Order: sequence, then C-alpha cells, then structure tokens
Amino acid sequence: MMQSLTAPAGSDLSAAPKAVRWIPKPEVPVSPVLSLAALLSGDDRAVASVVDVGRPLFLTAGRMAIAQALRIMGVAPGDKVLLPAYHCAAMVEPLSLVGAEAVFYRLRENLTVDMDDIAAKVDGRVRVLIATNYFGFPNSLTRIRAFCDDHGLKFLEDCAHSLFGTHDGRPLGSFGHYAIASATKFFPVRDGGCLVSAAHPETLAPVRLRRQPPLAQVRQVFDTVEEAVTYGRLPLFALPIALAKLGKVPLRWVRGNAPRPPAATNPGLMRAGVPGEFDGSWVDVKGTWVSARICRAASRRRIARRRRRNFQTLVDAFSGYQGFRPLFTELPEGVVPYMFPLEVNDLETSFPRLEDAAVPMQRFGQFPWPGVTAETCPVSNRYSRRLVQFPCHQELTEAEMQTIIERVLRVLEGTRP
Ligand SMILES: Cc1ncc(COP(=O)(O)O)c(C=O)c1O
Repeated sequence: MMQSLTAPAGSDLSAAPKAVRWIPKPEVPVSPVLSLAALLSGDDRAVASVVDVGRPLFLTAGRMAIAQALRIMGVAPGDKVLLPAYHCAAMVEPLSLVGAEAVFYRLRENLTVDMDDIAAKVDGRVRVLIATNYFGFPNSLTRIRAFCDDHGLKFLEDCAHSLFGTHDGRPLGSFGHYAIASATKFFPVRDGGCLVSAAHPETLAPVRLRRQPPLAQVRQVFDTVEEAVTYGRLPLFALPIALAKLGKVPLRWVRGNAPRPPAATNPGLMRAGVPGEFDGSWVDVKGTWVSARICRAASRRRIARRRRRNFQTLVDAFSGYQGFRPLFTELPEGVVPYMFPLEVNDLETSFPRLEDAAVPMQRFGQFPWPGVTAETCPVSNRYSRRLVQFPCHQELTEAEMQTIIERVLRVLEGTRP
C-alpha cells in the first residue's frame, strides 16, 4: 500500500487529492525494473542517444544536471530562465542553486514551444531557454536553436523524457548548447542523470565530481535487486533478498547510513512549489557505479524496439473512444517514447478510481509552480489537469500490458461509439 500525497501549499489544488487515503500499490512496474534480459547487450550504437552527443557528466539525477548546466553557463542572481508552463518541480527547483528567476512560456497543443510567446518574453535579463522533448517526442528543435542563437540565449535541451532518438537525422540532445537526460526513466536504475554539451564540450571538462561512498553503492545494488524481486523478476534472488530482510539490523543500518540521491522515480507525485527543497549538495556528486554499469550494459536496440511496440499497442487500445484520447497517435521514425500520455476529460474524478484499480501510472505537471495559471498557458493548464501517463517501458510483459489496458478501460468505461 502506498500513501497518496496531499497537495503542497501554494500549488494548484484542483487536481490533487484532498485528503490522505490508502491506495493499492500496482503490481505492474511503472518504471523499468531489473531483469536478466536488461543486461544482455551486444548491439549497439545503432540507436542514437544523448550520451553520444559529447562526453557526458554522469550525475545522480536529471535535476542535478540542470543545476550543473546553469552554473556552467554562468547564470547568476537576477538572470531569468525561460521554462515551459507545463513542467514538474524538478525542472524549476534547480534555478534556486544559481538564484535565477523562472519565466514560464506557452506551449502549443502538440507540446511544442509557442515561438511567438517566447519572442514576447525575451528581455535583457533572459539568459537561458529550457525546452523539453515531452514523452520522447522532439520539440521544434531547429527553430528553438535558431531563436536562441539570434537572441544570444543558451538553449538547454531537456531530454529527461528522450534519452534516445533522433530528429531530422540528428540525435536528440545535439540541438541544445547543453542537454540533460534522466537515467531512471529509461533504465532499471534508481539514480542517474547526465549532462552533455555539443556546443561547448570544453566547459564540462573542468567539472570534478565526488564519488559516492561504498555504502551508497551497496544500497543501490540491494534496492535495485529488491525492487526487481518485488515485481517477480530475478527469481534466483528472491531467497537471498528475503534472508537479507530477515537480518533486519544490518539492512536497516545500510539503509539508515547510506546517503539517498535525490532522484524521483515518480515526478508526477512530487511535491511542487515548496521553495528550498532543492538540495544543492548533490550537484557535484557522481551517479552510482551500479547505475552507470547497468546503463552501459543495457541493450539500446531492445529498449527502443520494445518501447515503440508497447506504445503502439496502447495507441491501438485507447484510440477511437469518447471521453479520452491518446495525446500522440503517430509514432514517427526515431522516437523512443518515455510513457504513453492519455488526455482524459474527467480525470479529476477518474484518477482516484484508476488509483483504486491499481493502474500503474504517473502524472506530469499536476502541481504547477506557484503563480502558473490558466492565464499563463491554457494548454498547459488543461494538460496538467487532464493528462495521465501509462508505462510503455521495455520490461513490461504482454500480460502486464493487457492488465493495464483492461483496468484502464474498465475504469474509464471505454466503449467505442
Ligand atoms: C521533463 C523533465 N525534466 C527534468 C526532470 C528531472 O529529472 P530527474 O527526475 O532525473 O531529476 C524530470 C523528471 O522529474 C522531467 O520530467
């Protein structure tokens, strides 16, 4: 069982649960979990990745990569950073490290940047524009880069949802002056984020990162394997994990003493708009060794192929209904999706019912930063209230995909007109 979160003070309360209640934990994993197949590589530079764009810095989370990028770019108090009105707190909080002010811009229905709006918002204090390839789908990257070059801004390409993929024949992450990615969304790992720069690779070279202590590495191994066992993977480890849990004292000691990296595997439920939550002490810390190993070992081709297949299965399953619609019905060549976003007209009432049905899902942008309203961007406001995302990751079995589809259709009473 997990506890539903109440909304933080100052955030948009309209879509948030009103009180604490208990909801069942989905038995289908919402994020990739470790399997033997996940570690069988053998291919595979055939699938483009952000990490190939330049020599990456491997940090603990995507948000730490954003903070590190802002610092490297020399953003300072009084400077402004342009951010999309559809966001999670992890994209905004890093600004506090450098004391920059967030200015939120509008998006279009397909979640690409509203170029007229950013043109209206640029002034002498804006230094950086952050644009996201939502759910793995490329933004208007060439136009954004040209705009930034014309206005003397740095473009930070947010590839947290698009660790893999291409656009116009170029790898995602190569359009921005800098790009960040998030490992936990694509690999069976519990920490990891990266920062690359196609335009200024020399600025990353002097950054020195601290290694995490051995205890933190041990903890990551244990937590990664334990999570896999919880979801019925790695059956050979079930007994050792159970025995380790019996030895509660050493386990509690490792857990209590190992530093916990700030990566969130469930950004949709993260508390937003609580100033000061960003822990800048993690900005110069390396991601764990075990995460780096798993990321390197995993087969990119398997990830891309299975995610695309699962995404297409969900498009087919959820298209043609009244009351809800897939945000993206086409899966262009080169896209490796993060999750499958569905717009549900009455999500406010159906979300708790989806929770009760133990549907694995996340919401993104549910708690906009204080001050971001429907007036800031009507499209973002609508999506923050109506979009829910279901997993399409590489570790889902066919039976698990069917479970997701059946539960969602049962709750949303999906009958095709
Ligand atoms: C679009 C976007 N950017 C950045 C981040 C930060 O990534 P991480 O969770 O790895 O810190 C997230 C996730 O929370 C995200 O969804």
